[in-house]
Amino acid sequence: MKGIVLAGGTGSRLWPVTNVISKQLLPIYDKPMIYYPLATLMLAGIREILIITTPQDQSAFKALLGNGHQFGITLTYEIQPKPEGLAQAFIIGEEYLAGDSCLMILGDNIFHGVGLGHQLEETLPGIGAHIFTYTVSDPTQYGVLNLDSEGLPLAIEEKPRNPTSNLAVTGLYFFDNRVVEVAKQVKPSTRGELEITSVIDWYLQRKELTLTQITRGAAWLDTGNPNSMHDASTYVRVVEERTGLKIACLEEIAYGQGWISKEELIEYSLRFKHNDYGKYISKLLI
Ligand code: G1P
Repeated sequence: MKGIVLAGGTGSRLWPVTNVISKQLLPIYDKPMIYYPLATLMLAGIREILIITTPQDQSAFKALLGNGHQFGITLTYEIQPKPEGLAQAFIIGEEYLAGDSCLMILGDNIFHGVGLGHQLEETLPGIGAHIFTYTVSDPTQYGVLNLDSEGLPLAIEEKPRNPTSNLAVTGLYFFDNRVVEVAKQVKPSTRGELEITSVIDWYLQRKELTLTQITRGAAWLDTGNPNSMHDASTYVRVVEERTGLKIACLEEIAYGQGWISKEELIEYSLRFKHNDYGKYISKLLI
């Protein structure tokens, strides 16, 4: 299985902050936003990851993350020329996926808590599609899922005006290798985008959609506007200060997975030795 982080988009809800910098490079407390979705994929055991960005931002992502070597992963980059929808990621990634299944995550989605990470590996099916839902107070901003009386997926709708369920579809999706062909069949929506909801619906209609309901013991935060970004930073700060443990420290995850050596970790801790991030990494070695 390969991973995709979709980090395109104009970030228009955050202008002027995003006028000259990609939203996914902005800080969420003490790390760039993209560290968080990368951490989710890495905790799921995925080491081959495609990062899709806008044309103008690609060089900054490459400067930040390189080929992924320092995190024990292999990063590849592709461009989404225009923000024409999440489902376009699979068409852009066709060659990269080369017939593999994939776990895609949106570059502005932050997941934290019980039931995520390592358990993801066990949750994902080999075939079909799998989505992760989260109960939210205002579902109108999201893809919304309705379940039947047995808890099986019944219908999915993108940003419904009058939602009949409060189960939001989060930006973490597993699809088997038919996803590229499915995405190619999708017609642009009224907002001119190839909607991921249409791809999910294709699997739902064939009864090949399964789901995990993320419980309230875990957090799903999105960071699309100034308030939600600020909230996410506060959340990370509070949890990190209270526990002394970092969320989404990629070097720590790589070391924990056995993907980088102790010597490499020492080298990285020295690189940031004058700040808290470096001191945190060096403490992992004690
Ligand atoms: C997108 C998807 C939506 C999903 C959301 C999760 O929304 O279209 O179905 O619930 O991501 O963050 P958008 O970011 O395009 O508003």
